[in-house]
Amino acid sequence: MKSFSVAVVFAATSLAALASAQSLPKGDGKDVVEKVCTGCHGPEAITGMTGTKAEWTDVVNDMAAKGADMEKDEKEKIITYLAAAFPKKAEKKK
Ligand code: HEC
Repeated sequence: MKSFSVAVVFAATSLAALASAQSLPKGDGKDVVEKVCTGCHGPEAITGMTGTKAEWTDVVNDMAAKGADMEKDEKEKIITYLAAAFPKKAEKKK
């Protein structure tokens, strides 16, 4: 039994390490997000969050208000990418 719990702890720790080292996943729009969204904070500000498309729209509008500089078509790309790459956790499994 002892080795079993050690294995579980190890698996949980390495998962956490993976999550914290996470950078932006590949996808259409990643380059735009890197260009527009990593000037003030690193990608970890983004990878730590999940949301619906509406929630990501709010975040991107909020960042635009803070000074994130993007064209309208870039904004669309960013929101689409973020909603696909970091979907709301509860909805992911459905
Ligand atoms: C002009 C600087 C700036 C740019 C550019 C910027 N952000 Fe932010 N962002 C901030 C600041 C400052 C905070 C932390 C303050 C806060 O929580 O409101 C933040 C926090 C966040 C958070 C944490 C959640 C939250 O709302 O606090 C997320 C997610 C985020 N940014 C996403 C983005 C995305 C996506 C982009 C690209 C569209 C982006 N940021 C571009 C300044 C910026």
